[in-house]
Amino acid sequence: MKILLNEQQIGHGIDRLASQLKEHYKDHPITIVGIMTGSLVMLADLIRRLEMPVRISLIQASSYRGGTQSGDLVIQDQMMLDIKDRDVLLIDDIFDTGKTLVQVTQRLVAMKPKSIRTAVFLNKLGQSVVASVPDFVVFEIPNEFVVGYGLDYEDLYRNLPYVGVLEASDLQIHVSA
Ligand code: IMP
Ligand code: MG
Repeated sequence: MKILLNEQQIGHGIDRLASQLKEHYKDHPITIVGIMTGSLVMLADLIRRLEMPVRISLIQASSYRGGTQSGDLVIQDQMMLDIKDRDVLLIDDIFDTGKTLVQVTQRLVAMKPKSIRTAVFLNKLGQSVVASVPDFVVFEIPNEFVVGYGLDYEDLYRNLPYVGVLEASDLQIHVSA
C-alpha cells in the first residue's frame, strides 16, 4: 500500500491541531463530539493533547452501502451528551463531499449548543458539494481513496497507524482473504 501520511507526520499534524484549539478555546470547557467510527483514532490522540476541560460525546453517521460509494446517511444520536449551551467541537475523519459533516452539524445545531466548530483529519480536495468548509483541517489530500488512522474500506484497515492509498492489488487481497 502506498503510504500518504506516516505516523510521524500524523503525530505532528495532531500536535498542530491541538495548538490551534488551545489558541481558539483557551481554558474554556468544550464538548468534543466524535463521528463514529472513523474519528475514533483521531479522537483518542487529540484529547490527550488538550488541557482545557473536555467532555467526550459520540454520534454515529453511516451510509447504508459499504465500500467506497456513499449512500443515504443514517444518524444515530443515542450516545450523545446534552450539548445545550455548550461549546461543541465536532470531529470527523474525512471531509469528502461534505454531506456527512453538514448533516451531522444540522442535527447538533437542533440541540442548541452555544457554539459549534468542526475539525476533520483529512480534507479531500475538489470533492465538496456543500457551501461550508470545516473550521480546522489537519491535512489536505488529493482525490484518492485512503484507509488507516480510523478510515476504513468495508470496516477494515481502521487500525493502520498510517494513512495509505488503497490500490487495486490491496482490494484483491481483501476479497480473497
Ligand atoms: P462525505 O459525506 O462525502 O464528506 O463523506 C464522509 C464519509 O465518507 C467519511 O466519514 C468516511 O466514512 C467516508 N469516506 C470518504 N472518503 C473516504 C476515503 O477516502 N476513505 C475512507 N472513507 C472515506
Ligand atoms: Mg466510513
